[in-house]
Amino acid sequence: MELKAENLEIGYGDKVIVNGFSMNIERGKITTIIGPNGSGKSTVLKAVTRLIKYQGGVVYLNGREISEMKPKELARTLGVLPQIHSAPSDFRVRELVSYGRMPHQKPFSKKSEEDERIIRWAMTETGTWQLRDKSIYEISGGETQRVWIATVLAQKPEMLFLDEPTTYLDISHQLETMQLVKKLNKETGIGVVMVLHDLTQALEVSDHIIVIKDGKKYSEGVPEEVITEKMMREVYNVDCDIIKIAGRDKPLIAYKQIGA
Ligand SMILES: Nc1ncnc2c1ncn2[C@@H]1O[C@H](COP(=O)(O)OP(=O)(O)OP(=O)(O)O)[C@@H](O)[C@H]1O
Ligand SMILES: [Mg+2]
Repeated sequence: MELKAENLEIGYGDKVIVNGFSMNIERGKITTIIGPNGSGKSTVLKAVTRLIKYQGGVVYLNGREISEMKPKELARTLGVLPQIHSAPSDFRVRELVSYGRMPHQKPFSKKSEEDERIIRWAMTETGTWQLRDKSIYEISGGETQRVWIATVLAQKPEMLFLDEPTTYLDISHQLETMQLVKKLNKETGIGVVMVLHDLTQALEVSDHIIVIKDGKKYSEGVPEEVITEKMMREVYNVDCDIIKIAGRDKPLIAYKQIGA
C-alpha cells in the first residue's frame, strides 16, 4: 500500500491554493501534516482522496492513478474523516457506523455476520458501543467525533485519512484517540495520514511530518528534525523553546509566555 502524489496543483475556481506539492505515503507509517490555518492542509487531504479535483499533477495508489479507480474500490482502500462532516439525516449511532460497511456490500444485500462483527469492533475500539441506540443529534461533540472515527474504521480501509481527528475532544479523549490511532497502526499495519494542530502530539505519534506553509511544502522528515525553533518562527511566527526532558522520549514545546 503506497500513495504517491506528484507535483499537485489544487485550487478552487480560478484561485490556486496548493502548488508543486508532492508526497509519498508508505504502508504502516503515521504521517502528520501540520501548518497554519488556511495553509492548504485540508485541501491536500481532500485532493489525494479524490474528494476534490486537482488541476495539475497526479496521485497514484499502489501504482494506479486514483482518477481511474472506481469510487467503491477507492472507499475500500482509503478511509477519510473530513474536518467538517455531517450526517444526511437523523440516524441512530449504530446505523451511521454501519454505513461504513457500504463499500464492501453488494447492492441491496443485507449486512453479513462479518459486517456486524466489524461494526461492533469499530464501536468498541472507539468507545461508542454504549451510544449505539442514541440519535446522532443526542450526543456530545466529542462523542460525535468518536462515532465518525468508528464509521471510517468500519470501512476497514488500508489507509486512514483524518483531518483534525481530535477537534472537540477534551484532553483525555485527545490522548485516547491518538493512542487508538497508534494502536491500529501497530496492530493492523494501517497507514495513517492526519492533520493535527497540537504539535506536541504530532511529535509523539508521527513517523513522518510534512509542514505546509502558504500552499507549499516547507519541510518534511522525522518529527525531531522538522519541529524546530526555526520552523516555529518561520511558519507559525511564534517564539518557543524546544526542550528535552529526562525520562521522556520526545521533546516538549514551551511557547513564549502570554503577555511577556
Ligand atoms: N471550498 C472552497 N472554496 C474556495 N476556497 C476555499 C475552499 N476551501 C478552502 N478554501 C481556501 O483555501 C485555503 C486553504 O484552505 P484549507 O482548508 O486547505 O486550509 P487548512 O490548512 O486546512 O486550514 P485549517 O487549519 O484552518 O483547517 C484557504 O485560504 C481557504 O480559504
Ligand atoms: Mg483544515
